[in-house]
Amino acid sequence: GKVGVLFGGRSAEREVSLMSGAGVLKALQSKGIDAHGFDPAERSLAELAAEKFDRVFIALHGRFGEDGSLQGALEQLGIPYTGSGVMASAIAMDKIMSKRIWLSHGLPTPRFIELDAHATTDEELRNAGDTLGFPLMLKAPHEGSTIGISKINDHAGMRTGFDDCARYDEMILAEEFVTGRELTVPVLSCGRSAQALPIVEIRAPQGNYDYHNKYFSDETQYLCPAPLDEALAKGIQSIAVRAFNALGAKGWARIDFMLRATDNEPFLLEINSSPGMTGHSLVPMSAKAAGISYEDLCVQILSSASL
Ligand code: DAL
Ligand code: MG
Repeated sequence: GKVGVLFGGRSAEREVSLMSGAGVLKALQSKGIDAHGFDPAERSLAELAAEKFDRVFIALHGRFGEDGSLQGALEQLGIPYTGSGVMASAIAMDKIMSKRIWLSHGLPTPRFIELDAHATTDEELRNAGDTLGFPLMLKAPHEGSTIGISKINDHAGMRTGFDDCARYDEMILAEEFVTGRELTVPVLSCGRSAQALPIVEIRAPQGNYDYHNKYFSDETQYLCPAPLDEALAKGIQSIAVRAFNALGAKGWARIDFMLRATDNEPFLLEINSSPGMTGHSLVPMSAKAAGISYEDLCVQILSSASL
């Protein structure tokens, strides 16, 4: 049947999604699938309905694509779609909600404080700094690709960093910084129970895996499978699968971790329910290490499309 690849969109991650979608579209077409691109930023839901897609591959990132709102529209239109449903998408798009659920399941995530973007006093910022210690992370909880994230080194840096994040969201996540290794784990649940793919370790210049170093730098190093002893790797993969299931995620996702340097304890940072599929992205890299080509990965994800 006719397949839509939804990409572009109007979130801050539009450019990333254009790269992801172009890759997915080409891959599906190369497998003989009748796939067509569709950009919800340029065309309406009525036009989406008129396309009469049998199913769609969601290659959108961020708001209005990854956050459950589009998933709700697709439910209304009766078009099967890839990835998580309405609720899991909405929770996954919110780093604070994800952490709350993981904590309620006994899963490890760094300590945090939630702050009102528009009503947090200097004294409250000071208290947050004292409670969490420095460095700490300030994050706009509904963004992706490191947009709306600041690493704060001292009390003096809090206000500027906070106001930067406050441009993106109503509530701000202040989170303890875990010093250690940066890891990510794709989880696939296409037609069977969720399984973790090989772990990727990211070594970014100056430990700064930001927007540029994610998509444009050739200096960022990726190790896959990550050099970890087998028991530790299995433990991290098992936490990834539990984190995926705890949120009720479906199809596929990528779960980001920090591995604390002092004791090799893993901490969950966030889950990405519509992960990047660009040439620099990590799910395709990990799949490749597991013997799954980019094209086959796209077909597998598409085959799990459901309502
Ligand atoms: N938010 C980006 C696309 C990712 O997680 O891959
Ligand atoms: Mg993310």
